Amino acid sequence: MTAETRAPFAPLGGRTPEEVFGGLATPCYILDEGQLRRNGEILAGVAERTGCRWLLAQKAFSNYDCYPVLAPFLAGTEASGLFEARLGFEEMPGKEVHVFCGAYRAQDFEELLRYAGHVVFNSPAQLAHFGPRARAAGKSLGLRINPECSTQEGHAIYDPCAPGSRLGTTRAQWDAHMTPELTALLDGLHFHTLCEQNSDALEITLGAVAEKFGDVLPRMKWLNMGGGHHVTRPDYDVPRLERCIRFAQAQWGVTVYLEPGEAWALNAGFLAARVLDLTENAGVKNAILDCSAACHMPDVIEMPYQPPVYGASVGTSIACPPGSSCACPTDAQCSSLHQYRLGGPSCLSGDLIGDYEFDHELRVGELVLFGDLAIYSTCKNNTFNGMPLPQIWRRSEDGTLEQLTAFGYRDFKYRLGR
Ligand SMILES: Cc1ncc(COP(=O)(O)O)c(C=O)c1O
Repeated sequence: MTAETRAPFAPLGGRTPEEVFGGLATPCYILDEGQLRRNGEILAGVAERTGCRWLLAQKAFSNYDCYPVLAPFLAGTEASGLFEARLGFEEMPGKEVHVFCGAYRAQDFEELLRYAGHVVFNSPAQLAHFGPRARAAGKSLGLRINPECSTQEGHAIYDPCAPGSRLGTTRAQWDAHMTPELTALLDGLHFHTLCEQNSDALEITLGAVAEKFGDVLPRMKWLNMGGGHHVTRPDYDVPRLERCIRFAQAQWGVTVYLEPGEAWALNAGFLAARVLDLTENAGVKNAILDCSAACHMPDVIEMPYQPPVYGASVGTSIACPPGSSCACPTDAQCSSLHQYRLGGPSCLSGDLIGDYEFDHELRVGELVLFGDLAIYSTCKNNTFNGMPLPQIWRRSEDGTLEQLTAFGYRDFKYRLGR
């Protein structure tokens, strides 16, 4: 197996997965602190040059043992409700806590105010119901707006601007429900419309925000541009992002917040698994692993998303790989590649991670290393089928591996009853 240089595997420094992680019981996640720091440095550079303020959206990455690595680069955390707000408050001491929730529950709200400094509402009705109490507690209040500007196609579940969306207040809703008293409660506006996108999509969105809410924004102290900014991806256009931030600052005199999740932990984690069995059916070679798409990487099914695998390419090609020394005709199936459909051991037929091409035949017991699995994985997994939760390890910058969790049968059982 040749050394992998693709971004998700760069932290291995040219060593093989077996050399680096071979001693760990599988399946397990490994969080890479060096990559977290490198991502943090990129974001901090934008803040230094523009004066924007970065928040960590904890829904994507909330492995708080690693928060000290990110803390120097951010202004605070973003939460989706009470528990994440408390986590940010406890584990990022002294940092800002912002919360946005589609709708707050009355029984949570008082406690929420203990942790959050910024509270963002989804609708004028929620602002009217909870805003005065939050205001009296000295909180900075915001309203999520919906600029009705879709910049992604074929991904309706990740498009808060899709027609009929419940997320954010449209201009028509604003005009119908925002009284002067309600508007006076607000310090800021918030929009979240992107998903794994570049700054050209932000630029288009900002144009729609200016068109729909440009009259309101000069009265605000801050504008939160949400998440979905893939800033730490190699092809991300950082100068264009900085132009967008400066535009908002100059046009409306606002402090600009951004709250990505993915960008902080992109390519900063692995899932190590081993091959349990190899089967073949109607020409399809299946490799059954000790990890599961449905349980351990749910975005593979939900998003859908196919994670990179060390030493393998995604998909099924019919041409020989460039530069390969094989003698196959280029329009034929390349016989030097070995195609496998990777899947989990669960009962779900669709518990499939995807089709991959390896440069060698897989064998039972072999370690398969998935890259880019720090985000939306450890915070989103489950124990369907009684599947054990993979342990979580931390890999420090000096290569030291430290086990952070001790999941076992109890973690499966006590989610289900007494
Ligand atoms: C309101 C809000 N902010 C921030 C984020 C983080 O987005 P991402 O992890 O894609 O950067 C999300 C993701 O759904 C979101 O809904």
